[in-house]
Amino acid sequence: MQKALVTGATSGIGRAIALALRDKGYEVTGIGRQAAALAELGHEGIRALQIDLADAVALDRALDGFAPEVLVNNAGLMPPLAPFCDTDPAEIARTVMVNLTSTLALTRLIAPGMRARGVGHIFFTGSTAAHAPSANFALYAATKAALGAFAQALRQELAPAGVRVTEIVAGRIETALYRDRP
Ligand SMILES: NC(=O)c1ccc[n+]([C@@H]2O[C@H](COP(=O)([O-])OP(=O)(O)OC[C@H]3O[C@@H](n4cnc5c(N)ncnc54)[C@H](OP(=O)(O)O)[C@@H]3O)[C@@H](O)[C@H]2O)c1
Repeated sequence: MQKALVTGATSGIGRAIALALRDKGYEVTGIGRQAAALAELGHEGIRALQIDLADAVALDRALDGFAPEVLVNNAGLMPPLAPFCDTDPAEIARTVMVNLTSTLALTRLIAPGMRARGVGHIFFTGSTAAHAPSANFALYAATKAALGAFAQALRQELAPAGVRVTEIVAGRIETALYRDRP
């Protein structure tokens, strides 16, 4: 059975993707932090891993040797909407870590195996905020724009090996991420 790994599988877009992949016959592993939501995923037939993506060591340990055919780099957060000049530096570090650094780290863990086997498909959940950025979105837009550029370059690197790379450029969807935003 083909395997898929989905980050941010406990909520919103990632949960929907995880369930859709399961319905297509994939053996799905989902990553998140919320214990109750992870338990629910377990009841849905999805192997649930409780990992904080900001913890590179935990990620490495949990996924050592894991070789999925599909990787969905979906987890992300939206920092409080505010002018960049008023944004807490700790918020900047956290947003870059979760939205960008951890995605690069996870891709570095999984993509070499796909390249060696000559099979695989890597997805990134990008955002229209990166393609049409606006005031108060500078930090979020920066992380998503970086992911978009990364996906384009990675696609060219991996295409000769038969590994596909796709950026999903989502518009506004009423998930937990947006529920508290104006
Ligand atoms: N909703 C939109 O309108 C929209 C539009 C464009 C792009 N996007 C992007 O779509 C992706 C999914 O967002 P969503 O709308 O589905 O939001 P969501 O419902 O809030 O889901 C976010 C997911 O990311 C996970 N996550 C966040 N921080 C994490 C961390 N440190 N470690 C592990 N997991 C973490 C959450 O898991 P836990 O809570 O269990 O930690 C949750 O499963 C994000 O990358 C977002 O930027 C969303």
